[in-house]
Amino acid sequence: LQKAIAEERTNLKPLEVEMSASILDSLVSLFTVAIAGAFPNVPFIKAAVNPTSPKQEKFGDYQCNSSMQIAGMLKDAGEKIAPRDVAKKILDNIPSNNLIKETTIAGPGFINVFMCQKYMVNRIGELNNLGVQYDKSKSRGRKVVVDYSSPNIAKEMHVGHLRSTIIGDSIANLFEAYGYEVLRINHVGDWGTQFGMLIAHLIDLFPDYDKNVPRISDLQKFYKESKKRFDDEEDFKKRAYENVVKLQSHDPAIHKAWQAICEVSRIEFQKVYDRLQITGLKEVGESFYQDKMNAVVDQLKKRDLLEFDDGRYIMWAPGIEIPLTVVKTGGGYTYDTSDLTALNYRVNEIKGDILIYVVDCGQELHFRQVFAAASKAGFYDAAQTRVEHAGFGVVLGEDKKKFKTRSGETVRLVDLLDEGIKRANDQLLERGREKELTAQEMKDAADAVAYGCIKYADLKSNRKNDYVFSFDQMLDIRGNTAAYLLYQLTRIRSVNRKVEGKITDEEISKIATSGQFDLADPREFKLAKTILRFHEILSQAQRDLLIHPICEWMYDLSNAFSQFYDKCYIIEKKDGKEEIKVGRLILASATASVMEAAFKILGIRTLHKM
Ligand code: ARG
Repeated sequence: LQKAIAEERTNLKPLEVEMSASILDSLVSLFTVAIAGAFPNVPFIKAAVNPTSPKQEKFGDYQCNSSMQIAGMLKDAGEKIAPRDVAKKILDNIPSNNLIKETTIAGPGFINVFMCQKYMVNRIGELNNLGVQYDKSKSRGRKVVVDYSSPNIAKEMHVGHLRSTIIGDSIANLFEAYGYEVLRINHVGDWGTQFGMLIAHLIDLFPDYDKNVPRISDLQKFYKESKKRFDDEEDFKKRAYENVVKLQSHDPAIHKAWQAICEVSRIEFQKVYDRLQITGLKEVGESFYQDKMNAVVDQLKKRDLLEFDDGRYIMWAPGIEIPLTVVKTGGGYTYDTSDLTALNYRVNEIKGDILIYVVDCGQELHFRQVFAAASKAGFYDAAQTRVEHAGFGVVLGEDKKKFKTRSGETVRLVDLLDEGIKRANDQLLERGREKELTAQEMKDAADAVAYGCIKYADLKSNRKNDYVFSFDQMLDIRGNTAAYLLYQLTRIRSVNRKVEGKITDEEISKIATSGQFDLADPREFKLAKTILRFHEILSQAQRDLLIHPICEWMYDLSNAFSQFYDKCYIIEKKDGKEEIKVGRLILASATASVMEAAFKILGIRTLHKM
């Protein structure tokens, strides 16, 4: 590999880093190639490059700190060389490129990188002219399966499912933006022995269930009633068990009753999806895998991977203390069995290249077991298929306890969303916006702000942590919230109005194309640099399946814009004459482009007025 890289170096053309590339990834490649060229005897390492922290920015825009590591490796091999000299040798081997203006060596051997202004101006100009462009070279022909939302039929969809829905949707949007074919799968819990009692209760209450959708307004209540009867009434219990058997053998009447229950739930779920504008989510629930499970279990048996244990069949997965239960005593299958089967289906039938499961961290062990067992069974090869559980923490109330209503019940999502709308609307009224906006604009603004804030608050915290749900915080127009960012975006968009009639789009795009503007003011430079981190941030998000860095960056971007906008006038008055600073207009439009693109990935609708 090293030799190949070294060879490739020699016939390398100057590296042209394009607008759809991550600048950081490009720097990593440049330095990795340089290291391989400078030290052909050192085992291959990927260069460590990072953006400099805001406080360190005068020392450069990015920093490479691989010299110390390489000096250490050489020392171990008996060769003594100071890290600063290592740094010099690396720099001598950097392929020529359009990205780096200059480099310096600091301290024990850090390499500071200053970005070329010409490069930045060109990229900002392209953003103005073309909007955000995505590099689709890695995604061509590749499929991503995202399993998210996945509530349970006949049970209330709860805040955990809301988190899964919001995070999953955003991960799906992210991969879609980069050209992957994304399958959004709603793995609903629509199967299991509980349906026996639900069906028995349904038949008693709604004998005409096969003609009319049963009017069950409160499925939670319906579930509880069934459970009570199941525990109290012997005859009911017997019928419930019979129903399970009939359902499994596809008895038409019982199957219809089951479908009716699913339909009632589906209508409820859809209300939440509609309001949050969740589209493209396809229901492929546990029931879908029922008939496929036999074949999977047979395969596992044939390969001698199952162990008979006290009436049931278990499977040990490498490195995991607790076995999976694949067949229960009595022959039934489990959550483990259906997920093994679903995984096999997603890899070998759907031909997914990346499988992502957006499910709470409480199921971490389950997914570790399923992934390890599936790999042991040869259902997938980890070198070919990326299979990941993107777990998330629980939702807490402001008292840091489990999220509940005041009377201690689980919060109904529709009620929660209603409250969000009400609060967003109150906030608009407080700001006197009804005087400026039409009734429709008010409604749009309340919707976008409420749902945007609910989504953003969830997405901006690290998904792995527990998350405190607070309307006050998420709607605060001065904090790091969707309300604040959406407002900033309306300000950026209004910049164009300022110059209306004074300059045409053609004139602007001509200057953008020719790159005849500069970033002389430090605020202009800082804004441009922040804008151009877009692909770096999204490339990392794809690698880590973490969305919160996107939100952090959006907040940085807004702040960089504010600082720029306060000091760098777009229309400057000189000796009574107005001069339009076109470069600044272009910067503002590039800011709006990347911000809109990021909002789209977060699943947040933007506004022109609010
Ligand atoms: N229905 C499950 C629950 O509510 C989540 C299913 C997640 N997806 C999966 N493939 N297991 O906990």
